[in-house]
Amino acid sequence: MKVIAIAQHKGGVGKTTSALGIGHSLVLLGHRVLLIDCDPQSNLSSSFPDLQPANLCMVLRGEATLAEVVQPVSERLSLIASRPELSPLERMIGADATHPNLLRRQLAALRPHYDYLVLDTPPSMGPMTVMSLVAADCVVAPMRPDPFAFAGFYKLLDMLDAVRDNFNPSLELKGVFLTQYHPSYRGQVYHDFAAELARQPRVQGLLTGTSIRINAKLVEAVALKISIHAHAPDSNSAQDYLALTRELLTRIAV
Ligand SMILES: Nc1ncnc2c1ncn2[C@@H]1O[C@H](COP(=O)(O)OP(=O)(O)OP(=O)(O)O)[C@@H](O)[C@H]1O
Ligand SMILES: [Mg+2]
Repeated sequence: MKVIAIAQHKGGVGKTTSALGIGHSLVLLGHRVLLIDCDPQSNLSSSFPDLQPANLCMVLRGEATLAEVVQPVSERLSLIASRPELSPLERMIGADATHPNLLRRQLAALRPHYDYLVLDTPPSMGPMTVMSLVAADCVVAPMRPDPFAFAGFYKLLDMLDAVRDNFNPSLELKGVFLTQYHPSYRGQVYHDFAAELARQPRVQGLLTGTSIRINAKLVEAVALKISIHAHAPDSNSAQDYLALTRELLTRIAV
């Protein structure tokens, strides 16, 4: 079992959309997948119909184990949901010296049941993000072509260094990928951004060949609470996330 955290120190860049897109693609490729919503905004959870009451807050309060709050979604996909009440809880657990290892400690029980765990994280570098990164084997980071994206990305890199130094020495950043990318719109701007990103010394070898193009089908799929592959299998979005997932698997397997 590999634990993949989707992280970026910036809001609205496509973390949740990518957790869903990569998660559903992994299922399509035949893997058993558990999505864990580690964000108090609970956007990932809201993308699924008929949620049961069990959720991650119960684990953080010590009322249930991680294994007990797993909800099956389909044959090979399961979810651990979040709730907005995770927000005040996050502030409380931040003061608890054991919090960084809380998730990691319970992962062993899930190991026989899943090939991949995909963690959706909040945009802040707060306790839930630390906990997710401590539990993860690797990180993948979405980036919007946006002049402010670099600052957030460097903050994420600093956070990964701190987590490695203090808790999880084997944590690896396995890929950076562009999201909401438009290959032609606004002419050169997007290409310039991608070229500038590829030139950054700390990005060397990390930028994936696959970018996720901007496409309303992704928004529709979330609204309909179904996978992009079920909603629009021929769309750019379904194809991009499948190609990205295949590419990430070659990196993660190494
Ligand atoms: N490739 C895409 N094409 C079109 N819209 C997209 C694409 N990717 C994401 N979006 C839209 O952009 C918005 C932000 O995406 P998302 O919620 O995945 O970002 P996020 O990084 O998880 O945000 P937050 O930091 O708030 O958790 C959503 O409305 C989503 O539907
Ligand atoms: Mg999100």
